[in-house]
Parts: sequence; structure tokens; C-alpha cells
Amino acid sequence: MIQLENVTKRFPGGSNAVLNLTLEIPDAQTCVLIGPSGCGKTTTLRMINRLIDPDMGRIMVDGVDTKTEDPAALRLRMGYVIQQTGLFPHMTVGDNVGTVPRLWKWDSERIKKRVDELLELVGLPPGEYRARYPHQLSGGQRQRVGFARALAADPPILLMDEPFGAVARRWSSSRTTSKRRCSSATASAS
Ligand SMILES: Nc1ncnc2c1ncn2[C@@H]1O[C@H](COP(=O)(O)OP(=O)(O)OP(=O)(O)O)[C@@H](O)[C@H]1O
Ligand SMILES: [Mg+2]
Repeated sequence: MIQLENVTKRFPGGSNAVLNLTLEIPDAQTCVLIGPSGCGKTTTLRMINRLIDPDMGRIMVDGVDTKTEDPAALRLRMGYVIQQTGLFPHMTVGDNVGTVPRLWKWDSERIKKRVDELLELVGLPPGEYRARYPHQLSGGQRQRVGFARALAADPPILLMDEPFGAVARRWSSSRTTSKRRCSSATASAS
């Protein structure tokens, strides 16, 4: 369960990016934040995994105030698909997808198996794509790798910031409905 209580974030020199947001996302539910460009969707997701902290209010995950948690440990429990895909450019597709399992210290055989399974899931045959670098992919393929990376260690929470903007509708709708086991928050511009 993710709870936001009167969360406010103001950036220097700007107006309020998020003002007094109260929201509850129960386990095994998908919550979609819909609103115009600049209304604070990305800022909200970034506060949930503590890339930034709110100025006021608090955010609880499973009843614990995230301010009391180590941000790195918190993020290991959350997959995050960022709006600009954010793949590591110097790493292959396979190494990008295996990032979090490596941090969890899975053995290499298990990581390889999981990477291949996810590349299959996102429609990128591993034999063809595993060894490529992000610059050798199309925009939609990069987004799919970002999605696979977020799912890699099967996190209980998934934060997705317009994860399928560059991906064909037919592919994205079938994947979102097949991944509804965790709490997830998705941002979509209206
Ligand atoms: N680092 C920053 N410094 C100053 N202002 C910022 C910063 N990040 C975001 N903002 C401002 O905060 C507001 C909310 O931005 P945010 O990225 O959360 O919007 P969004 O709803 O995700 O928009 P989009 O649909 O375009 O992705 C915007 O007005 C933006 O200009
Ligand atoms: Mg955004």
C-alpha cells in the first residue's frame, strides 16, 4: 500500500509542482495519474521513490514513512520506468535489464535466464537484441527495454512514467493487462 498525505512540492523560482496531494494506492491495484503537461505527475512518482523529497506532507509505503528509509533500499523494491527511458548508454540491452538482479546479487545463470525471459516478453528476441547497445534500438524498442528493466527483479511496486509513449498501442495494451499483480502508479499526459 502506498499512501500520500497532503504532499506538496515547490521548485525554486517556480509555482507549486504538487499541492496538497492525498492519495492511497492499495496492494495489487493500478493507479493512473492523468493530467496536462506540467501538472506534477512525474514529480509525484519521483517523490514516491525518493529521487526528490516533498516540502510538506508524508509518503508511506506499507505503513512506513519513506523518509525514515534508506532511499537506495527503498528503490530496490520499486521498478521505475522513467519518461525518457534512461537506459545506461554504455551497457548492452542484457546488462541494462539485469541491473537490479545484479544489485540483489542473483547468480549469473539466474540473471541470464530472467533477462532472456523478459526480452521475450517485450517482443525483443534475446539472440538478436541482448548484445545491442541502446543507440542501436528504435525509440519504442528502448522503451520496451526500460519496461523489462523495471520488471526484472519482480518488484512489489512498479512506477511507470508514460512507459509506452513510443510503443504501438496493440503491444502496450496487451502487456499492461498481463502485469497487474503489483501496486503500480502510472503517469499519462491527457
Ligand atoms: N527540477 C525542476 N526545477 C524547477 N521546476 C521543475 C523541475 N521539475 C519539474 N518542474 C516543474 O514542475 C511542474 C511539474 O512538472 P512534472 O515534470 O511533474 O510534470 P508532468 O505532469 O510530469 O508533465 P508531462 O506530462 O509534460 O511529463 C512543471 O511546471 C515543471 O516545469
Ligand atoms: Mg512527466
